[in-house]
Amino acid sequence: MAKDTTGRLHVTVKTGGKRKLSSKLWLERQLNDPYVAQAKREGLRSRAAYKLIEIDDKYHFLKPGITVVDLGAAPGGWSQIAAKRVGATDSKGKVVAIDLLEMPEIPGVSFAQLDFLADDAPDKLLKMMGGRADVVLSDMAANTTGHRKTDQLRILGLVEGAAAFASDVLNPGGTFVAKVFQSGADAELLAQLKRDFSSVRHVKPASSRQDSSERYVLAMGFRGVQGRPLS
Ligand SMILES: C[S@@+](CC[C@H](N)C(=O)[O-])C[C@H]1O[C@@H](n2cnc3c(N)ncnc32)[C@H](O)[C@@H]1O
Repeated sequence: MAKDTTGRLHVTVKTGGKRKLSSKLWLERQLNDPYVAQAKREGLRSRAAYKLIEIDDKYHFLKPGITVVDLGAAPGGWSQIAAKRVGATDSKGKVVAIDLLEMPEIPGVSFAQLDFLADDAPDKLLKMMGGRADVVLSDMAANTTGHRKTDQLRILGLVEGAAAFASDVLNPGGTFVAKVFQSGADAELLAQLKRDFSSVRHVKPASSRQDSSERYVLAMGFRGVQGRPLS
């Protein structure tokens, strides 16, 4: 085993047999990723958990007693962090999560296997929430097709849907965090968020792979729409 530039041992995986080059590279990246190892040690379900930790450590929106919605939650790293920080396990706060995929139970988290784009998803979510939310998180990512334009549109469709949902359900002062990709196609979304929130910024946590165009939009201080009823 060789050492990398930081002095850590670097694991190399052999190709051959049924293993394709792409899976060899994926496996190597997983085995050598310090966040994957740390997540395993700390009992977190995903390395993605560190992205939410970093964003919240800087901007402090996950407060004890609040209600959080986690869209695209599986395997559950963000829900684990949200549940801990809002005190969902001792019924102080609440975390409601959905995903297309199944997700093993997390104490304090109400989960439903649900497509966010389905017509009945907002109503089902509202029932689970039992009132307005203080934070809407979306780490949703659609499976890529390999066709750049199609992939960008699908990703934008998810984030626009999540932003519209956030504007419908957030309490005044609420926060919206969503995964976006650097594409330049999100100007209209940003303009909308700037109308609805007092501060809007892009964030790229250190734990987000530097070679990926992934980043997060963080919108804080929801201005609220007086009297808008929950449907
Ligand atoms: C990057 S993962 C989320 C990781 C998660 N934040 C964590 O910490 O474990 C993205 C998730 O979005 C989900 N997803 C994609 N499209 C969705 C949709 N239309 N409705 C619900 N979930 C969706 C995927 O199934 C996938 O589990």
